[in-house]
Amino acid sequence: MNAWIYDADGNLFASYSRKGFEGFAFPRRETGMHEFEPGYLTLSEAITEDQDVLGSIMLRLDARHFQRVLRRSMTTAGIVLAVAMIIALLLSSATQRTISAPIQSLAHTVGEMSFENLSKRAKIVRNDEIGTLAASFNQMAENLEKSHNELRKAHDGLEEKVVERTEELAQANVRLKELDRLKSMFIASMSHELRTPLNAIIGFTGIILQGMAGEVTEEQKRQLTMVSNSGNHLLALINDVIDVSKIEAEKIDLIISEFDLADVMHEVQGLFTVAMDEKGLKMPLEMPERLAVESDGRRVKQIIMNLVSNAMKFTDKGEIRIEAAAKDGMAEISVADTGRGIKEEDIGKLFRQFSRIQITGIPTVEGTGLGLYLSQKIADLLGGRIRAESEFGKGSVFTFTLPLKYKEVTG
Ligand SMILES: Nc1ncnc2c1ncn2[C@@H]1O[C@H](COP(=O)(O)OP(=O)(O)OP(=O)(O)O)[C@@H](O)[C@H]1O
Ligand SMILES: [Mg+2]
Repeated sequence: MNAWIYDADGNLFASYSRKGFEGFAFPRRETGMHEFEPGYLTLSEAITEDQDVLGSIMLRLDARHFQRVLRRSMTTAGIVLAVAMIIALLLSSATQRTISAPIQSLAHTVGEMSFENLSKRAKIVRNDEIGTLAASFNQMAENLEKSHNELRKAHDGLEEKVVERTEELAQANVRLKELDRLKSMFIASMSHELRTPLNAIIGFTGIILQGMAGEVTEEQKRQLTMVSNSGNHLLALINDVIDVSKIEAEKIDLIISEFDLADVMHEVQGLFTVAMDEKGLKMPLEMPERLAVESDGRRVKQIIMNLVSNAMKFTDKGEIRIEAAAKDGMAEISVADTGRGIKEEDIGKLFRQFSRIQITGIPTVEGTGLGLYLSQKIADLLGGRIRAESEFGKGSVFTFTLPLKYKEVTG
């Protein structure tokens, strides 16, 4: 390093050269500058006092000195950094060993657990919070496994029970089918056993009534007529019950043939003439002269008779109008009466088994409540339908639609 001090006139006042730097003559420069020469930094500054310039100072510094200082500082910084990194590394590995590793092991155990394998447990290697966490986890896994096993046992038991019950149900079903078959057999034999003596009672009562077995007094006639009526009523009831069981056992046999519906209608009208006259009712019949239908004539007649007998039962004055017409491949037979009518809320109950509609203040008319149920079932079998419309207090219309050509109902 070299230093020069000049006075105000520019004469050298003093100079200093560090050992080894002597002999360097430095030209005076203007003040307030600095400059890098290769290997050196030169500075010059004015020396002032109360704004008077007393002189100037010039310094020439060896840059190699700075480089040495810088190198030394960098080496120190490098050593400090390396030591700090080693410490950080040691600290992180200690943390890894003490905190991260046990938590990772716990997470791994949780990940391995599934409903198929609940026996996994976390390793407890420490006595601190992490150890407590692992112990709590193990306790929870223990409870979970216990509940799961109990649930599985209950589930297995349930399956066994279902199998057992299904087996019992199947057996009960077989027994029920057998009972149903026995019931059908019983009804079939009942039809024979009951109808035969009943027909005998009705037949012989008729013979006695006609006086063919000797003279009969008026009182005897009256009582015998009651026997005959009750016999006929019982026969009709037995026939209905037999029909119902046959339909329910799907054992009803249809006899399909072509017939003239007009003949059937006239026959029905004829059967009710006496009863109509007794009640003072009219029974107009309106239909084409001929109406050919292919169906079960006996069953069709049975349905029309049921509808007309109902109309007669529930009508006290006026008329029962029977109409028939062919429309869109169907025969439409309607029985319209001017009787008591049916309330709207009761219409839906009409076709149910044993359903009879009671009206307060009106005496009950005899019947079983099977007529419409049976008629609708038979109409179904023939591919037809019965529908009812009514106005309470004014009268009802029952319409029976039937295919002109029978088509077997499947399913
Ligand atoms: N034309 C009608 N007018 C008013 N009510 C009717 C008429 N037809 C049926 N009903 C009502 O529907 C009920 C059921 O009729 P359904 O023919 O099934 O039975 P029932 O005539 O009482 O007995 P069954 O016909 O078995 O001898 C009757 O009890 C009656 O209340
Ligand atoms: Mg009836």
